Amino acid sequence: MAKRPQVARSVPALRRALQGFRDDGDTIALVPTMGALHAGHLALVREARRRARRVVVSIFVNPTQFAPHEDFSSYPRRFAADLKALREAKAHLVWAPTAALMYPKGFATRIAPAGAAKAGLEDKFRPHFFGGVATVVAKLFLQTQPDFALFGEKDYQQLCVVRQMAKDLDLPLKVIGVKTVREKDGLALSSRNAYLSSEERAAAPTLYRVLRTSAARINKGDAIASVLEEGRAEIARAGFALDYLEARHALTLEAVASRKDGPIRLLVAAKIGKTRLIDNLAV
Ligand code: PAJ
Repeated sequence: MAKRPQVARSVPALRRALQGFRDDGDTIALVPTMGALHAGHLALVREARRRARRVVVSIFVNPTQFAPHEDFSSYPRRFAADLKALREAKAHLVWAPTAALMYPKGFATRIAPAGAAKAGLEDKFRPHFFGGVATVVAKLFLQTQPDFALFGEKDYQQLCVVRQMAKDLDLPLKVIGVKTVREKDGLALSSRNAYLSSEERAAAPTLYRVLRTSAARINKGDAIASVLEEGRAEIARAGFALDYLEARHALTLEAVASRKDGPIRLLVAAKIGKTRLIDNLAV
């Protein structure tokens, strides 16, 4: 059994642990999470271990990326189980700050990302979201000062926003995207899948199925607009309320009219019952 990871609960404790790693000449990779860890998160930890000698996993349910009507208070919190999973995954250090520590009284600074953060995808439905993500990720980067930071392609727009921020602010680290981990039937793993009823769970793989058939048809040369129209109809038929199904430039997330407009990424978000699911796929 691997050693239990160290747990840091204050910035000085975090800095001390990190200094120990640096004193040993070790490189550091950071995996930011909100906990309730599943195999998707653990794939990031595995990739982090391949990249760096030491792996730091942050667990922080970040209040500033939730709107008042969203699921901040009901978001799953399972610290003991997370710690056990991270021990098995051989992470070295868990950074577990409180909200009062991250946002003390008088906190007044916020990162305001544009570009990919204003693509009209997640930002259209969660306008507060990327400001909250960029601010907390910037803090986590500065607290940890890692050589590598790992993010899942599952949250593709988030990955684009973090990459852009790291570039724009000359942050001295490499942002690495990791492929989406899926259930056997294609549903992307997500902490929010736990909210699905059995009927909703049975319908949920529709999103990935539509992404796959749409990507195949676009590759075959079918017109993007009509492929997306049919995909949207299929998602609605499966009982979802669709937020978007879009084809965008894979790097900028700008609109694309045809396959010639660059590498394309399909992105989807839809609600089934009370649960909002997102997914995406390269064309
Ligand atoms: P969270 O939803 O906990 O996700 C943490 C990381 O795990 C993200 O980079 C996310 O893309 C990745 N991830 C989630 N499901 C995945 C899957 N099925 N396959 C591969 N990777 C997956 O994303 C956040 O937390 C927060 O916004 C955060 C970046 C921590 C800032 O608060």
